[in-house]
Amino acid sequence: MAAEFPIARPRRLRRTAALRRLVAQTSLRPQDLVQPLFVKEGIGEPQPVGSMPGVVQHTRESLRKAAEEAVRAGVGGLILFGVPAGKDATGSGADDPDGIVQRALADLAADLGDDTVLMADLCLDEYTDHGHCGILTGAGEVDNDATLERYAAVALAQARAGVHVVAPSGMMDGQVAAIRDALDGDGFTDVAICAYSAKYASAFYGPFRDAAECAPSFGDRSTYQQDYASGPEALREVQLDIDEGADIVMVKPALPYLDIIAEVAASVRVPVAAYQVSGEYAMVEAAAANGWIDRDRVITETLTAIKRAGAGIILTYWATEVAGRLG
Ligand code: PBG
Repeated sequence: MAAEFPIARPRRLRRTAALRRLVAQTSLRPQDLVQPLFVKEGIGEPQPVGSMPGVVQHTRESLRKAAEEAVRAGVGGLILFGVPAGKDATGSGADDPDGIVQRALADLAADLGDDTVLMADLCLDEYTDHGHCGILTGAGEVDNDATLERYAAVALAQARAGVHVVAPSGMMDGQVAAIRDALDGDGFTDVAICAYSAKYASAFYGPFRDAAECAPSFGDRSTYQQDYASGPEALREVQLDIDEGADIVMVKPALPYLDIIAEVAASVRVPVAAYQVSGEYAMVEAAAANGWIDRDRVITETLTAIKRAGAGIILTYWATEVAGRLG
């Protein structure tokens, strides 16, 4: 039957792989990906993380190898998480110059120099015996302003150890300003801040809390992390962080929050990062281990979707693997 007007045929541009490649608007690049790495104090061998198959807690030595491998694969950067041997109420390991992250940062700074971007998560939950991201009041609440002083000290310790970018993840009000002020006051005006700006109180962090040994011993993080039922708050948090001096803003988790990534990307003029978190990783690995999904294709699809939504930088536990595949 001859139509009066030719019917629209978007399929024309999908006919060959070459046509599809020509018109594709999103492509992942190795340098878009940041590799999170865990380093644990006082272990002799890397320890597998049960809920994150393929991820380990590194020794200082195995960390150096993993970092070198990631850089060789072409990743855009590395972000370190420390797991100290001992914990206390104030998380003193977080800013101890001999603490695990400071030592690991110094190792990597010596090995890699400016060949990669060395980032560090800046928080207290891995270091406190109660597992919260800040200092507690007598009543057991997280004391925002007392915590800011601790974050400022941690930022300085990480800067002295050679970090390029600090990544505050504790969601305290005013944390970016406090950290910027401390860094500038000590001459570290070149250390950048990647703020976990829109970070939701998410069940998707479950496996990470095994990896970083930081599950709260009571309560949860919903008095400081955002409520996922509340959307517009994200832009407010992001804007506050930019006003306080954030150089990069981050949305976390990633895949369930593509709407937030898109909104943030449309409204800011700084680079936007997204964190594909441990639960997102674990779900894909578990389904793939059961033979229920095509692992590699699902990984590429999720990362492409996160980039398409507007995140130019993606933190993902698959960074080294995917960068190697892309490179
Ligand atoms: C806090 C922090 C967390 C993650 C990154 N930084 C845990 C939390 O907020 O409970 C989660 C990352 C992931 O799930 O992969 N220091």
